[in-house]
Amino acid sequence: MQFDLITVLPGLLESPFAHSILQRAQKKGITKIIVHNLRDYADNKHKNVDDYPYGGGSGMVMSIEPFAACINKLKSEREYDEIIFMTPDGEMLTQTIANNLSSKENIIILCGHYKGIDQRIRDIFVTREISIGDYVLSGGELPAAVLVDAVVRLIPGVLSDETSALSDSFQGDLLDAPVYTRPADWMGYKVPEVLLGGSHSAIEQWRDEQAFERTKKRRPDLLK
Ligand code: ADE
Repeated sequence: MQFDLITVLPGLLESPFAHSILQRAQKKGITKIIVHNLRDYADNKHKNVDDYPYGGGSGMVMSIEPFAACINKLKSEREYDEIIFMTPDGEMLTQTIANNLSSKENIIILCGHYKGIDQRIRDIFVTREISIGDYVLSGGELPAAVLVDAVVRLIPGVLSDETSALSDSFQGDLLDAPVYTRPADWMGYKVPEVLLGGSHSAIEQWRDEQAFERTKKRRPDLLK
């Protein structure tokens, strides 16, 4: 699976993909994450990628030409399943969306900045608009990193223990049960007895109950 991210701040996306699971997935050749600097596609002396908004108002608007040049170059090289624009007015990212995207082959992600991007980019090229929450960030880079992380860990073969993605919170409509490791007793705070015994069925039942109780308390909306 290949991700092509288009941004004016490629440096912001260096670290998130260079560690842990995302780094391993790339080394194993399961995914390719390529960051493109939008300024490389600006066809003007000062490498400007934005301009004043028509009709006035504050802030700059990202122009269509550099995005079009970059997207068209990528589309000439391979077919893309989705061209996603990260934006707070998009559909809210959920585990269901991440699952759906993890079965795709090639995805372009556009990261916006300033006051927004020329609406024609969204109308002409974008197939899907995704938000990571009801708050506004400075740009689409961190949301893009969140999306790529959520999707890549679901690709078969990325996690060494494949069942561990299946038992994630949200994967089965329930939040995760609490987890513990050694010591069994830390200054009087004890690990639940059932986890120390060897009964797998008792442990499974306890985890199911805990997951249900936690979901009922924290996210009753998930049980509906
Ligand atoms: N860009 C700025 N804020 C965002 C958000 N909450 N989700 C996705 N993209 C964004």
